[in-house]
Amino acid sequence: MPVPIIIDCDPGHDDALALMLAAADPAVDLLAITTVAGNQTLDKTTLNARRVCTLAGITDVPVAAGCDRPLVQPLAVAADVHGASGLDGPRFPPPTVDVVPEHAVDLIHRILREHPEPVTLVPTAPLTNIALLLTRYPDSASRIREIVLMGGSTERGNRTPAAEFNIHTDPEAAAIVLDSGVPVTMCGLNVTHQALATPEVLARFEALGTELGRTCAELLAYFGSAYHRLWGMPHPPLHDPVAVARVIDPTLVECVDATVSIELHGSHTRGATVVDLHHYLGRPVNARVAVSLDTERFWDRMVGAVEALGSRRA
Ligand code: BDR
Ligand code: CA
Repeated sequence: MPVPIIIDCDPGHDDALALMLAAADPAVDLLAITTVAGNQTLDKTTLNARRVCTLAGITDVPVAAGCDRPLVQPLAVAADVHGASGLDGPRFPPPTVDVVPEHAVDLIHRILREHPEPVTLVPTAPLTNIALLLTRYPDSASRIREIVLMGGSTERGNRTPAAEFNIHTDPEAAAIVLDSGVPVTMCGLNVTHQALATPEVLARFEALGTELGRTCAELLAYFGSAYHRLWGMPHPPLHDPVAVARVIDPTLVECVDATVSIELHGSHTRGATVVDLHHYLGRPVNARVAVSLDTERFWDRMVGAVEALGSRRA
Protein backbone atom coordinates (compact mmCIF):
# COMPACT_ATOMS: atom_id res chain seq x y z
CA MET A 1 0.00 0.00 0.00
CA PRO A 2 1.40 3.46 -0.87
CA VAL A 3 2.27 5.65 2.11
CA PRO A 4 -0.12 8.64 2.37
CA ILE A 5 1.87 11.90 2.50
CA ILE A 6 1.42 15.67 2.47
CA ILE A 7 4.26 17.87 1.17
CA ASP A 8 4.67 21.28 2.78
CA CYS A 9 6.99 23.27 0.53
CA ASP A 10 8.37 26.62 -0.70
CA PRO A 11 9.21 26.03 -4.40
CA GLY A 12 12.12 26.48 -4.91
CA HIS A 13 14.09 24.50 -7.52
CA ASP A 14 14.59 21.42 -5.37
CA ASP A 15 11.03 21.59 -3.99
CA ALA A 16 9.81 21.43 -7.60
CA LEU A 17 11.55 18.10 -8.14
CA ALA A 18 10.37 16.85 -4.73
CA LEU A 19 6.78 17.47 -5.87
CA MET A 20 7.37 15.54 -9.09
CA LEU A 21 8.92 12.61 -7.23
CA ALA A 22 6.05 12.49 -4.75
CA ALA A 23 3.37 12.79 -7.42
CA ALA A 24 4.77 10.07 -9.66
CA ASP A 25 6.30 7.42 -7.42
CA PRO A 26 3.88 4.56 -6.74
CA ALA A 27 5.25 4.02 -3.22
CA VAL A 28 3.57 7.19 -1.95
CA ASP A 29 0.10 8.66 -2.23
CA LEU A 30 0.33 12.48 -2.39
CA LEU A 31 -2.79 13.77 -0.60
CA ALA A 32 -2.04 17.50 -0.64
CA ILE A 33 0.57 20.15 -1.41
CA THR A 34 0.80 23.05 1.03
CA THR A 35 2.95 26.14 0.69
CA VAL A 36 4.73 28.45 3.10
CA ALA A 37 6.95 31.51 2.90
CA GLY A 38 10.62 30.58 2.66
CA ASN A 39 12.69 30.61 -0.50
CA GLN A 40 10.41 33.42 -1.61
CA THR A 41 7.30 35.19 -0.34
CA LEU A 42 4.14 33.10 0.07
CA ASP A 43 2.47 34.50 -3.06
CA LYS A 44 5.51 33.44 -5.12
CA THR A 45 5.99 29.97 -3.57
CA THR A 46 2.28 29.29 -4.06
CA LEU A 47 2.36 30.49 -7.67
CA ASN A 48 5.41 28.29 -8.22
CA ALA A 49 3.66 25.22 -6.79
CA ARG A 50 0.78 25.88 -9.22
CA ARG A 51 3.25 26.32 -12.10
CA VAL A 52 5.00 23.04 -11.33
CA CYS A 53 1.71 21.15 -10.94
CA THR A 54 0.44 22.55 -14.25
CA LEU A 55 3.57 21.64 -16.19
CA ALA A 56 3.90 18.20 -14.57
CA GLY A 57 0.21 17.37 -14.98
CA ILE A 58 -0.37 17.11 -11.21
CA THR A 59 -4.02 18.13 -11.39
CA ASP A 60 -5.68 15.85 -8.84
CA VAL A 61 -3.87 17.03 -5.68
CA PRO A 62 -5.21 20.02 -3.67
CA VAL A 63 -2.79 22.96 -3.29
CA ALA A 64 -3.29 25.25 -0.28
CA ALA A 65 -1.38 28.34 0.85
CA GLY A 66 -0.25 28.64 4.46
CA CYS A 67 1.77 31.05 6.59
CA ASP A 68 3.27 34.13 5.01
CA ARG A 69 5.96 34.69 7.64
CA PRO A 70 7.91 32.86 10.35
CA LEU A 71 6.41 32.60 13.86
CA VAL A 72 8.66 35.21 15.48
CA GLN A 73 11.23 36.80 13.21
CA PRO A 74 10.73 38.63 9.89
CA LEU A 75 10.95 36.63 6.67
CA ALA A 76 14.31 36.63 4.87
CA VAL A 77 13.95 34.94 1.47
CA ALA A 78 16.65 33.12 -0.53
CA ALA A 79 16.57 35.13 -3.76
CA ASP A 80 20.34 34.66 -4.03
CA VAL A 81 19.80 30.91 -4.48
CA HIS A 82 16.39 30.67 -6.21
CA GLY A 83 16.11 34.04 -8.00
CA ALA A 84 13.51 36.82 -7.85
CA SER A 85 10.65 34.47 -8.75
CA GLY A 86 11.82 31.67 -6.46
CA LEU A 87 11.99 29.42 -9.53
CA ASP A 88 14.23 31.32 -11.94
CA GLY A 89 15.57 29.63 -15.08
CA PRO A 90 13.01 27.88 -17.27
CA ARG A 91 9.82 29.34 -18.71
CA PHE A 92 6.61 27.87 -17.34
CA PRO A 93 3.23 27.93 -19.09
CA PRO A 94 0.54 29.99 -17.33
CA PRO A 95 -0.78 27.94 -14.38
CA THR A 96 -4.18 26.32 -14.73
CA VAL A 97 -4.01 24.47 -11.38
CA ASP A 98 -5.63 26.64 -8.69
CA VAL A 99 -5.36 26.84 -4.91
CA VAL A 100 -8.19 25.58 -2.71
CA PRO A 101 -9.90 28.22 -0.53
CA GLU A 102 -8.65 26.77 2.75
CA HIS A 103 -5.61 27.70 4.85
CA ALA A 104 -2.85 25.09 4.56
CA VAL A 105 -2.96 24.35 8.28
CA ASP A 106 -6.72 23.77 8.21
CA LEU A 107 -6.42 21.56 5.13
CA ILE A 108 -3.70 19.43 6.74
CA HIS A 109 -5.76 19.12 9.93
CA ARG A 110 -8.86 18.10 8.01
CA ILE A 111 -7.00 15.46 5.99
CA LEU A 112 -5.41 14.07 9.15
CA ARG A 113 -8.84 13.77 10.76
CA GLU A 114 -10.55 12.25 7.72
CA HIS A 115 -7.90 9.90 6.37
CA PRO A 116 -8.41 6.30 7.48
CA GLU A 117 -4.77 5.87 8.47
CA PRO A 118 -2.07 8.16 9.96
CA VAL A 119 -0.41 10.39 7.39
CA THR A 120 3.29 11.22 6.91
CA LEU A 121 4.16 14.92 6.64
CA VAL A 122 7.10 15.84 4.42
CA PRO A 123 8.13 19.46 5.03
CA THR A 124 10.74 20.74 2.58
CA ALA A 125 10.62 24.33 3.81
CA PRO A 126 10.63 26.37 7.04
CA LEU A 127 8.47 24.56 9.61
CA THR A 128 6.00 27.39 10.26
CA ASN A 129 2.89 25.59 8.97
CA ILE A 130 3.73 22.38 10.82
CA ALA A 131 4.42 24.17 14.11
CA LEU A 132 1.15 26.07 13.79
CA LEU A 133 -0.69 22.81 13.07
CA LEU A 134 0.72 21.18 16.22
CA THR A 135 -0.05 24.17 18.46
CA ARG A 136 -3.44 25.10 17.05
CA TYR A 137 -4.67 21.51 16.65
CA PRO A 138 -2.93 19.38 19.31
CA ASP A 139 -5.13 16.40 18.32
CA SER A 140 -3.15 16.33 15.04
CA ALA A 141 -0.10 14.75 16.65
CA SER A 142 -1.67 11.33 17.06
CA ARG A 143 -2.81 11.33 13.41
CA ILE A 144 0.68 11.98 12.02
CA ARG A 145 2.59 8.80 11.27
CA GLU A 146 5.88 10.72 11.15
CA ILE A 147 7.43 13.98 9.98
CA VAL A 148 10.21 13.44 7.47
CA LEU A 149 11.76 16.84 6.89
CA MET A 150 14.51 18.41 4.84
CA GLY A 151 16.41 20.76 7.09
CA GLY A 152 19.34 21.18 9.42
CA SER A 153 22.66 19.38 9.30
CA THR A 154 24.91 17.26 11.49
CA GLU A 155 27.73 19.54 10.38
CA ARG A 156 27.83 23.12 9.10
CA GLY A 157 25.06 25.30 7.70
CA ASN A 158 24.39 27.04 4.39
CA ARG A 159 22.44 30.14 5.48
CA THR A 160 25.05 30.93 8.09
CA PRO A 161 28.20 28.97 8.86
CA ALA A 162 26.16 27.23 11.60
CA ALA A 163 22.57 27.08 10.32
CA GLU A 164 20.75 25.53 7.38
CA PHE A 165 18.16 27.70 5.54
CA ASN A 166 14.87 25.97 6.47
CA ILE A 167 15.69 25.85 10.18
CA HIS A 168 17.35 29.28 10.23
CA THR A 169 14.29 30.89 8.62
CA ASP A 170 12.01 29.81 11.50
CA PRO A 171 13.97 28.35 14.42
CA GLU A 172 11.05 28.63 16.89
CA ALA A 173 8.89 26.53 14.56
CA ALA A 174 11.64 23.92 14.25
CA ALA A 175 11.96 23.74 18.05
CA ILE A 176 8.20 23.15 18.39
CA VAL A 177 8.35 20.30 15.85
CA LEU A 178 11.40 18.64 17.44
CA ASP A 179 9.87 18.91 20.92
CA SER A 180 6.41 17.70 19.85
CA GLY A 181 6.90 14.00 20.51
CA VAL A 182 5.84 13.18 16.94
CA PRO A 183 8.44 10.88 15.31
CA VAL A 184 10.78 13.10 13.27
CA THR A 185 13.30 12.14 10.60
CA MET A 186 15.76 14.90 9.73
CA CYS A 187 17.33 14.85 6.26
CA GLY A 188 19.99 17.55 6.56
CA LEU A 189 22.74 19.00 4.42
CA ASN A 190 25.18 16.26 5.45
CA VAL A 191 23.09 13.80 3.41
CA THR A 192 21.52 16.07 0.76
CA HIS A 193 25.03 17.08 -0.32
CA GLN A 194 25.37 13.46 -1.49
CA ALA A 195 22.61 14.12 -4.09
CA LEU A 196 24.71 16.18 -6.49
CA ALA A 197 23.18 17.06 -9.85
CA THR A 198 26.21 16.36 -12.05
CA PRO A 199 26.27 17.00 -15.82
CA GLU A 200 25.48 13.27 -16.25
CA VAL A 201 22.30 13.71 -14.20
CA LEU A 202 21.26 16.75 -16.27
CA ALA A 203 21.90 14.73 -19.44
CA ARG A 204 19.56 11.99 -18.17
CA PHE A 205 16.74 14.51 -17.75
CA GLU A 206 17.43 15.98 -21.22
CA ALA A 207 17.50 12.50 -22.75
CA LEU A 208 13.92 11.87 -21.66
CA GLY A 209 13.00 14.05 -24.65
CA THR A 210 10.02 15.64 -22.89
CA GLU A 211 9.24 19.24 -21.99
CA LEU A 212 9.24 18.23 -18.31
CA GLY A 213 12.65 16.56 -18.60
CA ARG A 214 14.09 19.67 -20.28
CA THR A 215 12.57 21.90 -17.59
CA CYS A 216 14.18 19.79 -14.86
CA ALA A 217 17.55 20.10 -16.60
CA GLU A 218 17.07 23.90 -16.85
CA LEU A 219 16.05 24.16 -13.19
CA LEU A 220 19.15 22.22 -12.17
CA ALA A 221 21.38 24.31 -14.46
CA TYR A 222 20.11 27.51 -12.81
CA PHE A 223 20.51 25.96 -9.34
CA GLY A 224 24.01 24.85 -10.28
CA SER A 225 25.06 28.34 -11.35
CA ALA A 226 23.82 29.73 -8.00
CA TYR A 227 25.69 27.09 -6.00
CA HIS A 228 28.84 27.73 -8.01
CA ARG A 229 28.60 31.49 -7.57
CA LEU A 230 27.77 31.38 -3.84
CA TRP A 231 29.74 28.40 -2.53
CA GLY A 232 32.14 27.45 -5.34
CA MET A 233 30.50 24.03 -5.60
CA PRO A 234 30.91 22.32 -8.99
CA HIS A 235 27.46 20.65 -8.77
CA PRO A 236 24.31 21.63 -6.86
CA PRO A 237 22.82 19.40 -4.15
CA LEU A 238 19.18 18.41 -4.73
CA HIS A 239 18.05 18.72 -1.10
CA ASP A 240 14.29 18.34 -0.90
CA PRO A 241 13.68 15.12 -2.90
CA VAL A 242 15.92 13.29 -0.42
CA ALA A 243 13.19 13.58 2.25
CA VAL A 244 10.60 12.19 -0.19
CA ALA A 245 13.01 9.39 -1.11
CA ARG A 246 13.32 8.38 2.54
CA VAL A 247 9.54 7.82 2.68
CA ILE A 248 9.42 6.06 -0.70
CA ASP A 249 12.09 3.54 0.28
CA PRO A 250 13.79 3.84 3.68
CA THR A 251 16.77 1.84 2.37
CA LEU A 252 17.64 4.79 0.09
CA VAL A 253 18.49 7.02 3.07
CA GLU A 254 20.23 5.48 6.07
CA CYS A 255 19.36 7.06 9.43
CA VAL A 256 20.56 6.81 13.02
CA ASP A 257 18.78 7.77 16.24
CA ALA A 258 20.02 11.00 17.83
CA THR A 259 19.06 13.95 19.99
CA VAL A 260 18.54 17.14 17.98
CA SER A 261 18.27 20.54 19.68
CA ILE A 262 17.61 23.83 17.92
CA GLU A 263 19.83 26.74 18.90
CA LEU A 264 17.52 29.70 19.54
CA HIS A 265 19.78 32.14 21.32
CA GLY A 266 23.35 32.03 19.97
CA SER A 267 24.42 35.34 18.47
CA HIS A 268 26.31 33.54 15.68
CA THR A 269 24.58 30.16 15.79
CA ARG A 270 20.82 30.86 15.90
CA GLY A 271 18.98 28.23 13.86
CA ALA A 272 21.73 25.62 14.13
CA THR A 273 20.74 21.97 14.66
CA VAL A 274 22.88 20.64 17.50
CA VAL A 275 22.97 16.89 16.84
CA ASP A 276 24.22 14.52 19.54
CA LEU A 277 24.99 11.56 17.28
CA HIS A 278 26.88 9.63 19.95
CA HIS A 279 24.39 10.13 22.83
CA TYR A 280 27.16 11.84 24.77
CA LEU A 281 24.74 14.12 26.64
CA GLY A 282 22.48 11.24 27.64
CA ARG A 283 19.31 13.15 26.66
CA PRO A 284 16.26 11.37 25.20
CA VAL A 285 16.45 10.60 21.49
CA ASN A 286 13.96 12.80 19.58
CA ALA A 287 14.85 12.17 15.93
CA ARG A 288 16.14 9.84 13.30
CA VAL A 289 18.94 11.63 11.52
CA ALA A 290 19.88 10.82 7.93
CA VAL A 291 23.54 9.98 7.49
CA SER A 292 23.94 8.50 4.01
CA LEU A 293 22.23 8.27 0.64
CA ASP A 294 22.24 5.52 -1.95
CA THR A 295 22.99 8.07 -4.66
CA GLU A 296 22.65 5.85 -7.71
CA ARG A 297 19.27 4.42 -6.73
CA PHE A 298 18.11 7.90 -5.65
CA TRP A 299 18.74 9.35 -9.12
CA ASP A 300 17.15 6.32 -10.81
CA ARG A 301 13.99 6.93 -8.80
CA MET A 302 14.05 10.72 -9.42
CA VAL A 303 14.60 10.45 -13.18
CA GLY A 304 12.03 7.63 -13.34
CA ALA A 305 9.43 9.88 -11.72
CA VAL A 306 10.00 12.68 -14.23
CA GLU A 307 9.87 10.15 -17.05
CA ALA A 308 6.54 8.78 -15.79
CA LEU A 309 5.00 12.24 -15.47
CA GLY A 310 6.31 13.31 -18.87
CA SER A 311 4.91 10.26 -20.63
CA ARG A 312 1.55 10.66 -18.87
CA ARG A 313 1.35 14.07 -20.57
CA ALA A 314 2.59 12.92 -23.99
C1 BDR B 1 16.76 24.10 1.73
O1 BDR B 1 16.65 25.51 1.59
C2 BDR B 1 15.95 25.84 0.43
O2 BDR B 1 16.58 26.88 -0.25
C3 BDR B 1 15.82 24.58 -0.38
O3 BDR B 1 14.61 24.57 -1.11
C4 BDR B 1 15.89 23.49 0.64
O4 BDR B 1 14.61 23.19 1.16
C5 BDR B 1 18.21 23.71 1.67
O5 BDR B 1 18.92 24.33 2.69
CA1 CA C 1 12.60 23.92 0.00
